[in-house]
Amino acid sequence: MCPIRRIQKEDLKTVKKLSDASLPETYSMGLLKKLVNAWPEACLATESQDGVIGFVIGRKDGTKSRIVLICVDTEFRKKGVGSELLNRYLGIMKRQRFKTATLLVEVSNQQAIDFYLHRRFKIKERKPHIYKNGSDAYLMERAI
Ligand SMILES: CC(C)(COP(=O)(O)OP(=O)(O)OC[C@H]1O[C@@H](n2cnc3c(N)ncnc32)[C@H](O)[C@@H]1OP(=O)(O)O)[C@@H](O)C(=O)NCCC(=O)NCCS
Repeated sequence: MCPIRRIQKEDLKTVKKLSDASLPETYSMGLLKKLVNAWPEACLATESQDGVIGFVIGRKDGTKSRIVLICVDTEFRKKGVGSELLNRYLGIMKRQRFKTATLLVEVSNQQAIDFYLHRRFKIKERKPHIYKNGSDAYLMERAI
C-alpha cells in the first residue's frame, strides 16, 4: 500500500487536477490552500512513484468532522486506496475526539454513494441545488 502523509503545498496542483477531473465543483487553488492551512492534520495524500494519486481534505463543521473532498486517480481506483485514505482520516478524527463524520455527495455520484454506504455512512437528508450545476446533494454521516 502507498504511504499516506499530510498534503504539502507542492501537492496542490495535482490535488486540483484530480479534483477538477472528478467532481462537479471546481475548487480554486486559493480555496484548497486555505482548507489545507486551516487543518493540515485533516488533509492527507497518498502517492505512487509518479506523484500524488489520491487525497482527502477535511474541515471542522461545528462539532462534526466534514470530508470536503476525497478523490483517487481513475487509474488507481478499486484497489483500496480510497478506503485507506478514509480509514486514516477517521482514525485521526477519532484521536481528536470527533464523534461524527459528515459529507455532501452529488445525488448522481452512485460510485461515491456506494463507497460511503459500504463504510457505514447513512443518508441523512437530500439538499436541493447545492452545486453550481444545479444538482442536489445527499448529506451523509457516520459515527466515528
Ligand atoms: C469514491 C472514491 C474516492 C473511492 O476510491 P477507491 O480508491 O476506488 O476506493 P476503494 O478501492 O477503497 O473502494 C472502492 C471499491 O473497490 C473495491 N476494491 C478495493 N480493492 C479492490 C481490489 N483489490 N479488487 C477489487 N475491488 C477492490 C472495494 O471493496 C470497494 O467496493 P465496496 O464499496 O463495494 O467495498 C473514488 O471512486 C473517487 O475518487 N471518485 C471520484 C471523486 C468522488 O466522487 N469523491 C467523493 C465525493 S467528495
